[in-house]
Amino acid sequence: MVMFLTDSHAHIDYDSYDTDRDEMLGRAQSTGVQRILNIALGPESEKFEKAFSLFELSKDISIAVGVHPHDAGKMDEDAYNKFKAYAARSGVSALGEIGLDYYYENSPREAQVKWFGRFLDLALELKLPVTIHSRDAFDDTYEAVSKRDIFRKVGGVLHCFTGTAEEAKKFLDLGAYISFSGIITFKKAEELRQTAKSVPIEKMLIETDAPFLTPDPYRGKRNEPAYVLRVAETIAALKGLSVEEVAKITSENAARLFRF
Ligand code: NI
Repeated sequence: MVMFLTDSHAHIDYDSYDTDRDEMLGRAQSTGVQRILNIALGPESEKFEKAFSLFELSKDISIAVGVHPHDAGKMDEDAYNKFKAYAARSGVSALGEIGLDYYYENSPREAQVKWFGRFLDLALELKLPVTIHSRDAFDDTYEAVSKRDIFRKVGGVLHCFTGTAEEAKKFLDLGAYISFSGIITFKKAEELRQTAKSVPIEKMLIETDAPFLTPDPYRGKRNEPAYVLRVAETIAALKGLSVEEVAKITSENAARLFRF
């Protein structure tokens, strides 16, 4: 059986790949990673331009455009209008990552909530699925997505999920997908592995969030899409499935959600 892995969330336009991007993509391909969703983050236009110039013409790499909650404080109406123009480009697969991060709180909470809401409304307007970053912000995230019924209307995923099984269930009940990253391979992540065990494989995506969150046993190195195999292997062991099955099912889930 040929491996068909999808890395549903990676930042491969980052400068850290500028010197070896082709080699990195080659390693992904030889590992069986056939599709990558590149998460292009603004709000600066130069960053979006770089992502589009690198990947617009690729059939194996799709693009999502977002503004990380860390940068919500940089947003204003002018930045929003520019962002909207990028999001509306043909070929864009998703809006994100967008969301709330009260752990680092790099931007004020009020700004995060305001712009997360605006971005969700834009996803509804453009009929784009969303990839959501939520850290230490379950209640406000839940309120924003549930009052818009966003997952049933346009589809969406909680990326790099680190919550409890109970929180996962609440999002699943709204129609969300749940995505697990390399964190699931960490020794200390036993509770997260239990959460993953509770999430139906039909509602699960896998990702690297590269260049961040390098899985074991590669911790300390830069992360890259080839290492999504480690996430698949960990899920396979938890679910009693083969790695090929996990790869295939999570790839089908990503294709359904992002309409690849
Ligand atoms: Ni990310």
